[in-house]
Amino acid sequence: MHKAAPKLQLCGIRKSYWEQWGHLATLDGIDLYANEGEFVSLVGPSGCGKSTLFNIICGLVPTDEGTVLLDGQDVGGKIGLFGYMPQQDLLLPWRTLLDNVILGPEIRGEDLTQARRQARELLPLFGLEGFERNYPATLSGGMRQRAALLRTFLGRREVLLLDEPFGALDALTRRQMQSWLLQVWHRFRQTILFVTHDVEEAIFLSDRVYVLSERPARVQLELSVPLSRPRQRQQVTGPAFVELKQQLLAALL
Ligand SMILES: Nc1ncnc2c1ncn2[C@@H]1O[C@H](COP(=O)(O)OP(=O)(O)O)[C@@H](O)[C@H]1O
Ligand SMILES: [Mg+2]
Repeated sequence: MHKAAPKLQLCGIRKSYWEQWGHLATLDGIDLYANEGEFVSLVGPSGCGKSTLFNIICGLVPTDEGTVLLDGQDVGGKIGLFGYMPQQDLLLPWRTLLDNVILGPEIRGEDLTQARRQARELLPLFGLEGFERNYPATLSGGMRQRAALLRTFLGRREVLLLDEPFGALDALTRRQMQSWLLQVWHRFRQTILFVTHDVEEAIFLSDRVYVLSERPARVQLELSVPLSRPRQRQQVTGPAFVELKQQLLAALL
């Protein structure tokens, strides 16, 4: 039987940056894939090239070698195909929450009345109801991240790239956001590629996890997460989870 191509596939991605003092090898031949509707995490040491990889996937940074395939088509260098939430939350401080959330449609010149209506419909799911006129400075860290995520989900792209979306949050908020993100994902069912440096977060959320090495990054380990869904917080202390965590940590350290 014909097996469907992965939704997203990276083949042999290499990248070096040229800097004043020379040549900085960053990605050393990355091969990975995500199937349709799969939640895949990338874990790796700080500075190994995870954000660079995301910038390459969405065409913001050119590769030296390798290909990016979306539904089997080479999309290298093309922009606008992926829903991308960069590592720093990029809410504009002078815009209200709602105006931040509809920035994408506004830039693309789409119907703003419809964009606002769609955004308002989703405010409760994103825990932002009643805050649409607030400016980012008056929102909590968790709310700002949910607003940035709402903007990403509203783009309605089939593949989302989320770069450490919870990295700056305190531990409790982070856990709440993880469970919440899974609920949202169960509803929309996009393919998600998720960067984190938190091994537990990667296991809790994902169907598969890739561990990247120190820079120049290679894939050190690919691990399936055979835990049942919907995921429950109690699973974190179970033997299957602990075993997966040990395998990931061993590959990282
Ligand atoms: N535009 C750039 N020019 C030169 N070096 C860069 C650039 N962007 C990132 N780097 C370097 O590439 C390496 C990987 O960075 P990055 O992709 O941000 O890693 P990560 O997201 O895994 O922390 C780092 O050493 C960083 O300093
Ligand atoms: Mg990064």
